[in-house]
Amino acid sequence: MNASCRLSALRAYTPDTVVTNDDLEKLTDTSDAWIVSRTGIRERRKLADGENASDMGLIVARRALEDAGVKARGLTHIMAATCTQDALAPSVACMLAGKLDAGPVMAFDFNAACSGFLYGLSLARSLLAENREAKILFVCTEALTRRVNWTDRSTCVLFGDGAAACVCSRAARGDDAIVEDVLCQSDGVLNGLITVGGGTACRYGLGQPVGPDFFLQMNGRETYKYAVRRMTEVCGAILARNGLAVRDVGLFVPHQANIRIIEAVGSRLGVESERVFTNVARYGNTSSVSIPLALAQARAQGRVRPGDRVLATAFGAGLTWGAALLRYQP
Ligand code: ACO
Repeated sequence: MNASCRLSALRAYTPDTVVTNDDLEKLTDTSDAWIVSRTGIRERRKLADGENASDMGLIVARRALEDAGVKARGLTHIMAATCTQDALAPSVACMLAGKLDAGPVMAFDFNAACSGFLYGLSLARSLLAENREAKILFVCTEALTRRVNWTDRSTCVLFGDGAAACVCSRAARGDDAIVEDVLCQSDGVLNGLITVGGGTACRYGLGQPVGPDFFLQMNGRETYKYAVRRMTEVCGAILARNGLAVRDVGLFVPHQANIRIIEAVGSRLGVESERVFTNVARYGNTSSVSIPLALAQARAQGRVRPGDRVLATAFGAGLTWGAALLRYQP
């Protein structure tokens, strides 16, 4: 497939409320020392009581459209990656289409958990292969703190909220990255390792208290092993099929789930730590938002220069994983 898919105006948003490790010590039996040594996380963001995934998505969608110089009425598609959508239906994408007054666009959500951004890049390339004139608003938005069980110390310390958006098209604009290649995979046999409840399998009657299955549950130790193995493998595979080596990559942007996972994958691939972007200390795991948030910050901090190639990789519930090669425009 022709790889001509450009990302314009990748913008990110995180809510103002900061939840520190000290705050969590007051909620559950944990400590700053444990969280930092096992995960590298020091704080994460939490959306306001009146805010939902679609509200964060709207903030960042408006920024991306304005900075890309694209009107909502000029869009052909709106797609949203999320595993914490406001409701089972309607989709966040349809809510955004309504609030942006986008007219009769194709609007849909999809769920690849933490791999959502990479799966979305693959979808955007397919949509652009079908329609060369497509202008796709691609939003990642996650309200993970809404599905965190604050009494489960093994998971509640890990996750945070946020959103990111960009416009995918063939048109060249400033501040662009070209998607050179994307490789997305899954192993559904392992679907029980990480679950986010609240779907129709949660059979609670009106007024009944919800149980643990309503929330995010994870077998962290098993997930850790697969995360390191699969992200290392998929990065090797995407580099190999493009005839590239690690030295051809300017910046490595892994999913920000745990600093130990990031370091393990970086060291197996042979990437020096100076070429690995991390912000997990400040935001924790924001699922599908993790990579675009990191990319937006890396660009703003001058860690990605025009002409640089970025290798991004992610891993999440499903299990899903993937990698993408992005080239920033000179
Ligand atoms: N504070 C203090 N102690 C804790 C905490 C906590 N927050 N959480 C767990 N512990 C304890 C455990 O109870 C256990 O105690 P025990 O030995 O007395 O039984 C001990 O610490 C070790 O627990 P482990 O689970 O073995 O700890 P581990 O070193 O594996 O770290 C972690 C746990 C951080 C979750 C790690 O396994 C991990 O990062 N896994 C991968 C998670 C991930 O990448 N998820 C990505 C997908 S998320 C998505 O898709 C939405």
